[in-house]
Amino acid sequence: MSNPTSYDVATLRNLFPILHRKVKGKDLVYLDNAATSQKPIQVIDALVHYYTHYNANIHRGLHTLADEATAAYEAARVAVQQFIGAAFHEEIIFTKGTTESINIVARSWGSAFLQRGDEIIISSLEHHANIVPWQMIAEEKGAILKVIPMDDNGVLDMGAYSNMLSEKTKFVSIIHVSNALGIINPVEEIIALAHEKNALVLLDGAQSCVHLDIDVKKLDCDFYVFSGHKIYGPTGVGVLYGKRELLEKMPPFLGGGEMIKEVTFEKTTYNELPFKFEAGTPNIADVIVLKPAIDFINNYGKANIRAHEEELLAYATSKLKEIEGLKIIGDVQNKISVISFVIEGVHPQDLAILLDNQGIAVRTGHHCAQPLMQRLGIVGTTRVSFAAYNTLAEIEVLIAALHKSLKMLR
Ligand code: ALA
Repeated sequence: MSNPTSYDVATLRNLFPILHRKVKGKDLVYLDNAATSQKPIQVIDALVHYYTHYNANIHRGLHTLADEATAAYEAARVAVQQFIGAAFHEEIIFTKGTTESINIVARSWGSAFLQRGDEIIISSLEHHANIVPWQMIAEEKGAILKVIPMDDNGVLDMGAYSNMLSEKTKFVSIIHVSNALGIINPVEEIIALAHEKNALVLLDGAQSCVHLDIDVKKLDCDFYVFSGHKIYGPTGVGVLYGKRELLEKMPPFLGGGEMIKEVTFEKTTYNELPFKFEAGTPNIADVIVLKPAIDFINNYGKANIRAHEEELLAYATSKLKEIEGLKIIGDVQNKISVISFVIEGVHPQDLAILLDNQGIAVRTGHHCAQPLMQRLGIVGTTRVSFAAYNTLAEIEVLIAALHKSLKMLR
């Protein structure tokens, strides 16, 4: 693909075959990008190319196909390292996704280092994936889970957070950008305050990685996790970044092939990073095609994509606010391309069905953040979320469809 000189959304859309399909006889308007993004043709082609030309197991074989697959797999690791600004490629561990990455840290780090009475801090905005693993390990180790409160708009109470931190705090695990509301949390401050107490910090980057420039060295987070499928890549693959000195001290999560140095029936010694955390045959094909996904983002430029998404966000926000009875939850300046809203007297699921009938894909419900919805006193929201390929014209279609749906529902 040639280097685009300007951001041309029409050309960009042509790279996504799925955007040309019809849904219920209408042009697809895909506004569920926070759940998963669509895939550009170079990602799809790379997957087919792998299975057509060099499918083989990696790190084990002494034949051409194995060498090629291993080289492509390790090239993806370097691409990810550069994408998030990690210091060393061995700090990049491939996993199934964000959820598995968080579970590895909670289980591996938690089982080795947490003690009775230690405290773990999360926030009111967390996805279930950043709540449940910590509840599980806290229960097992007798640790205490604390939750940073927020205001009615989803803004974290940093004063309360600061007061919550103490010598007992051992770990802070925070969603970087809220999947349900789109709010960007003040993670620099969260990390700095945690480090003053020698607590480690994990950032759940599932929603931030594709929109924000990520430099884990500059952020100084101890762990950063994300999924491939939200960055225009495949499902079933994700990343766990951890500072090398921390990963080195952590015990393996799964035992099996690849993660060992030597096995006898009496004792096993473990492999070096990153292989210590990559037991068994990994998801080779999908790891490999993370690289074309990252290349796609780099080629268009995160800053250019963000500027485009900001325009969509501002326009959609202003048009949605004109709808009577509609309330945006998380209506703050510091957010990325997600708009979550409720409409008086309308159940989000009814709305989603009517929108789908008009070819529009949105997500409704609790967005895997039930405690957040309980805190807000709502059953759920309707969420629209934008990606590089969405257009202002699609927002017009959404707004017209909302008006039409509301006439039927009210
Ligand atoms: N966590 C994803 C979402 O917010 C699936 O939709």
